[in-house]
Amino acid sequence: MPTVVDRGLEGVVVGSTELSNVEGAIGRLTYRGYDIDDLAPNATFEEIVHLLLYGQLPNRHQLDELKRELGSGRALPEPLVNAMQNVPKTAWPMEVLRTIVSGLGLFSPVNAQGEHLSDVHTAIELIAKMPTIVAAWDRIRRGLDPIGPRSDLSQAGNFLYMRTGKAPHAIEEEALDTYFVLLADHSFNASTFAARVAASTRADMYGSVTAALATLQGDLHGGAATAAFRTLTDVKTPENAEPFVRDILARGQRIMGMGHREYKVRDPRAKHLEAMAKELSAYAGRDRLYETAHAVEEASRKVLQEKKPGNTIYANVDFYTAPVLADLGIPGDEFTCLFACGRIAGWTGHILEQLADNRLIRPQATYDGPVAGPYVPIEKRAANGARG
Ligand code: ACO
Repeated sequence: MPTVVDRGLEGVVVGSTELSNVEGAIGRLTYRGYDIDDLAPNATFEEIVHLLLYGQLPNRHQLDELKRELGSGRALPEPLVNAMQNVPKTAWPMEVLRTIVSGLGLFSPVNAQGEHLSDVHTAIELIAKMPTIVAAWDRIRRGLDPIGPRSDLSQAGNFLYMRTGKAPHAIEEEALDTYFVLLADHSFNASTFAARVAASTRADMYGSVTAALATLQGDLHGGAATAAFRTLTDVKTPENAEPFVRDILARGQRIMGMGHREYKVRDPRAKHLEAMAKELSAYAGRDRLYETAHAVEEASRKVLQEKKPGNTIYANVDFYTAPVLADLGIPGDEFTCLFACGRIAGWTGHILEQLADNRLIRPQATYDGPVAGPYVPIEKRAANGARG
C-alpha cells in the first residue's frame, strides 16, 4: 500500500508529452520547441493548431488546407441550435458549451463497431465548432438569432463576426488570435490531465473534451479570468487598488488571476496579454480596466511582499485576460469559454498523443476509513446509521 500522499499531485510526474514544455523556474513556455515569445507576435492560431496536431508548423499549402477544413466544419447541427434556443437564458455559458460539445458526439460519424472516430479530423471539427457554440449562446441569451459562421475568416475573426454580424477591426481580430495562441496548450494542467484520463479509458474525443471543459470551469483554473474581471469591476479605479488588495488579503482571500502552481516567476503569457490589454485600451478601452488591472497587480505585489517577504506571487495568464476580453466587448461570464476555444487545440492534441501510446491512467489512494467489519442489519444500526 502506498504511504506517500502528494496532495494535488504537486511536483508529481505522471506522464510525458511532446506538445509543450512549462519551465516554471525561468518562466518559459514552448510549444514543440518554439518559444511562446516568438509565437505570440508571429504565428496565427491556425498555425499553432497545425503545430500541435500534426507535429510541425505548416507550409503554405498545409495551412490553406487546414483553414479550409476549419472553415467548412464550423456550422452546428440544427437540433443542437434548437436545443440552445430552449435553454433557460440564465444558464452559464460554460454549462451550455460543455453540454453542446457533449451533444456533438450524438451527431458524429461512427465506425462499423458503432464507435465515434477520435482522429485528427474530429479534433479539427471540435476546434472549428466551439466558437460557434459560444457565439450562438451569446446571441440566443440576448434574445437574438444566432449568426451563421463564415468560412473565409480566421477562427478569431469569425468568432467576433458571429457575435455582432460585423467583421472585426484588425486590432481586435489580432488580439483574440494572439490570445488563442497564448492559451493553446500548457502541458499537464488540470483540464488537459482530465482529458487524458478520460481518453486513457478509450472514451471518445467528445467525452474527453467534455471532461476537460468541466475541469476548466472552476475558478482555481480557467474560471479565474471571470473572477479577475469581477475584481476589476469591484475595484473600479486604479486609486482603489491598494485598499482593495489590503482588504482581500486581510480577510484571508486570494487575488484572482495571481499565483501559479508551476511558475515561480511571472507567467510568460502575462506580459503579452498585458501589452495587448494596453493596446486595446487605447483603441477601445472602457472603464480604465487596463490601468486598474495594472494597479491591482502592483498593489498585490507590494502588499504580499510586506506580509510575506520573499513571496513569489505574480500575475498568471488569467489576470490580463480580463481587460483584453472585456475590451473586445465579451461579457465576463464568457471568458472561460474563450479560454476553452484556445485550449481545445491542446486538449485534442493531448488526446491524440494519449491514444497513440495508451495506458489506462489509474492511480491509487491511501485508505483512511473505518477498518473492515461485518455488515450491520438495519434493525441493529444506531439512529444515525452508525454501526451501533
Ligand atoms: N492571492 C493571495 N495569496 C495567494 C494566491 C493569490 N492569488 N495564490 C497563492 N497564494 C498564497 C496562498 O495563500 C499560500 O499561502 P500560505 O503558504 O501562507 O498558505 C501560498 O500562496 C501558496 O498557495 P497554494 O494554494 O498552496 O499554491 P498552489 O500552487 O496550489 O496555487 C493557485 C496555485 C491555485 C493557482 C493559486 O495561486 C490561486 O488560488 N490563485 C488564484 C486563482 C487563479 O488565478 N487561478 C488560475 C491559475 S492559472 C490557470 O489555471 C490557467
